[in-house]
Amino acid sequence: MAPDASPSASPSESTDWELLRVAAIEAMQRAYAPYSRFPVGVAGLVHDGRIVSGCNVENASYGVGLCAECGMVSQLHLTGGGRLVAVFCVNGNGDPLMPCGRCRQLLWEHGGAACELMTATGVRTMAEVLPDAFGGGDLDDFAVTQR
Ligand code: THU
Repeated sequence: MAPDASPSASPSESTDWELLRVAAIEAMQRAYAPYSRFPVGVAGLVHDGRIVSGCNVENASYGVGLCAECGMVSQLHLTGGGRLVAVFCVNGNGDPLMPCGRCRQLLWEHGGAACELMTATGVRTMAEVLPDAFGGGDLDDFAVTQR
């Protein structure tokens, strides 16, 4: 089964958004962003209750820079894998930051349509912020023999 076709963990009604915000701010304070001077932090709640986080890490070769979400997804897998059920991304002021397009795709892969995201206008699902998303299921639709 393609990763994004696996059952999404249900978004928790009891998600502690404040805890996630604090974890995202702590991560943001570790950002390495000397070029943009735009630190980003992100924290995600995993279906089993773990919290994973990440910060952006830039590079003198600008295009090589890593978004905060990349680090968070790496930590997700380093600490046992699982599905993201809620994500809070912050800017340098600790305010909600909308993940860039590439990172929405990352969150889709590891949280799916039902994963919740804090935005400046409140909680939204990934299905709302990445409608008609491309995912592993699209690969399954193409027969292996045709590849
Ligand atoms: N950035 C992230 O870390 N995540 C996003 O979703 C948006 C952008 C970072 C990349 C770069 O280091 C800085 O923000 C300015 O674009």
